[in-house]
This record gives sequence, structure tokens and C-alpha cells, in this order.
Amino acid sequence: MQLNETEITSFRNYKSLRMEWSPHTNILYGMNAQGKTNLLESIYFLSLTKSHRTAQDKELIHFGDSFTLVKGRVERNVGSVQLEVLLTNKGKKVKINGAEQRRLSDFIGMINVVLFAPEDLELIKGTPQVRRKFLDMEIGQVSPAYLYYLNRYNKILLQRNHGLKEIAKGKMDQSLMGAWDEQLALYAPKIWRKRLDFLKKLSSWADEIHRRITDGKEKLLLHYQGSIPLEEQPDEETLREKYFEVLQSKAERDVERGFTQYGPHRDDLLFTIDGNEVQSFGSQGQQRTVALALKLAEIELIREEIGEYPVLLLDDVFSELDVKRQTHLITGFWDKCQTFITTTGVEAIPMEFLKMASLYHIENGKVSVEGR
Ligand SMILES: Nc1ncnc2c1ncn2[C@@H]1O[C@H](COP(=O)(O)OP(=O)(O)O)[C@@H](O)[C@H]1O
Ligand SMILES: [Mg+2]
Repeated sequence: MQLNETEITSFRNYKSLRMEWSPHTNILYGMNAQGKTNLLESIYFLSLTKSHRTAQDKELIHFGDSFTLVKGRVERNVGSVQLEVLLTNKGKKVKINGAEQRRLSDFIGMINVVLFAPEDLELIKGTPQVRRKFLDMEIGQVSPAYLYYLNRYNKILLQRNHGLKEIAKGKMDQSLMGAWDEQLALYAPKIWRKRLDFLKKLSSWADEIHRRITDGKEKLLLHYQGSIPLEEQPDEETLREKYFEVLQSKAERDVERGFTQYGPHRDDLLFTIDGNEVQSFGSQGQQRTVALALKLAEIELIREEIGEYPVLLLDDVFSELDVKRQTHLITGFWDKCQTFITTTGVEAIPMEFLKMASLYHIENGKVSVEGR
């Protein structure tokens, strides 16, 4: 799939910008703090209605303005689709071909993106929260149902956590918790099943790609670390019963601690190479390679699920990678995906890319298009 056009209004340091993009490689270059990442962020926002670098939506709105609007035209197998996200202080409105969508989950993934950024290393070294966000964003792109379940689960979790505090203060009776536990136990298994299935597929792609990069025979495995045991790949009904039991039996302790200790919101991912944990034993180089393999695996997984390759966003990554990893990054997709690359200097970009690329110079929220 390809993003043919975007039109952005009051987004970050762009007051108003209309762009037509090359279906192949788009290189955005310029000095620091001029708006290169902001442009990628606007594409990410059009895909996921969220930023990749802030949880605070309002940061996206141009200083002093009251809304931001991002529009794009996407070419997919099914034809051309017009997308629109409007963000105001009242929330978000999304449209597909001019028709407002009631649920964000029906909009997300109309354009699929995979972003490579220097922060990707956090997938390995960062907190469990980073890895859960990765799962949620990536599964959400290909499964509206997942986003729906997750949203329901999170809402009930908030209520339950609030309830726990009320019980601790003696303002509420513990017997009332059963209703929340039943609801959590309804949605959590659906989330777990989706995560486990996704991870299994991702793990097998990532292993294959990792071997290619390292010319190795080592096995890379991704493990799901559930806050309740999930190794045996239980079905939804078994999970429902098990999790309900856990919630009930740990209720007292939950009240003492003031939050729900078990559930998908407490889980993590673990990466191993030949059985050794990459997080604790891997060198920086190995960790980088695993992060890269994960992202490249995502490209293949999206193609498998959606039937089309996603759009790739490469934020300043060439300066961080050695030649060997660069080559794999390129050969992994360069003839398959539309690509947006940011860089401070075109010297950092491998020649294969430059030959075919459209170049855009970014300066203080203004874009000038250069010939080939
Ligand atoms: N909401 C906003 N309104 C206006 N300018 C913003 C906003 N958020 C960030 N900026 C500006 O955007 C610039 C950073 O853009 P960015 O795309 O991250 O730079 P780079 O070109 O280095 O990738 C900074 O000058 C910052 O002040
Ligand atoms: Mg940047």
C-alpha cells in the first residue's frame, strides 16, 4: 500500500502543508529540530491515531492552535481510500472516505505502517510497558477486535482499581467486586489469545530474519511472560476460569496494594538466543540486531495478515547501524514497500536508495521539493 498525498494543518511545527509522495522512496533531510520526525509522526498518527513519541495527544497541536487535522490518500489493493483524523480538546474524530467512524478501532490500520527509530532498542532494554505498547500497537493495526477488547478491559480495570481503593477505605463492600472480575475474565482471555497467536507468528519470522542477519545457527525465540501461567497455550474458556479464580483469590491482596496485580496489563515479553536472555546477557550489538529483526518480522507479518506490505517510516536510523545491518534493512524491503526516511545528511543514505529517491528539504516546518 502507498500513501499518495497528505495534507496537514496545525500539526507540530507545520501550520499548513500539502504533499504528494513518491510511491517508492521519500527522503526528508535537513538540520536538527526542523520538523523531519514531526512529518513521520503525522503519518504514524494517520495510521494509529496516536503518536509514537508522546502519550499526550495535545502536544501534537501546533502551539497556540485549538486543533490539528491530518488527511491522507492511501492506495490499497481495494482501491483509493481517503483518511482523516481531527484532534481537538474534545477528542478525536476520524473519517474514511468522508464518513465519520464511531469507533477508532474501525479506522486504525486503514493504512499500515512500521516505524524504525533509534528508540527501538528500548524494545529490548526498556520497561515491560514499552513491550506491551509494542504488542498493542502492532496487533491493533491488523485486528480491530483486539483494540475493542483492550479498550473494554482497560475501562473495567480502571473501575476495579478505583473500587479497590474504596474498599480499603471502608466505603465499599468487597462482595461487589465479583461483577468486575467476571468482566475482566471475559476480555482478558481474548487479549491473551490474540497476543499469543501474534507472538508465535512474529517469533518464527524474527528467528528466520535474525539468522539471515547473523549468518547464524542460533535460535531467537520470543516468549510471552504472563502474569498468570500461559505456557501451555490454553484456550479462551480455560483462561477465563483460571483468571477469574486468580482475581478472586488475590482480591484481598489487591485491596491492600490498591491495584490489580494480575492480568494482561502486567505481562511482559522475553527474548532468548539459544536459551540465553537477550535482555540481560546480550551485547549492545546483539540487542540492536534483535530489535531490527523484530521490526523486519513485523513487515512480513503485516503482509501475511493484510495481504499488502505496510508503509515504512525510518527515522534517522542509518547513522546508528553498521553497514551489515544497513544492508539487511535495505534488502529486507527496498523493492517492496513505500518508504519515508529522515536524515540530517544524505551522505548517510546508502546509494541504492538515493538513486531512486525523491528528496525533500525540511527547514523550520517548510518543505522544498528537490529534483531527483
Ligand atoms: N506543538 C508544536 N507546535 C509547534 N512546534 C512544535 C510543536 N511540537 C514540537 N515543535 C517543534 O518541532 C521541532 C522539532 O521537530 P522534529 O521533527 O522533532 O525535528 P527533527 O527535524 O530533528 O526530526 C522543534 O523545533 C519544536 O519546537
Ligand atoms: Mg528527528
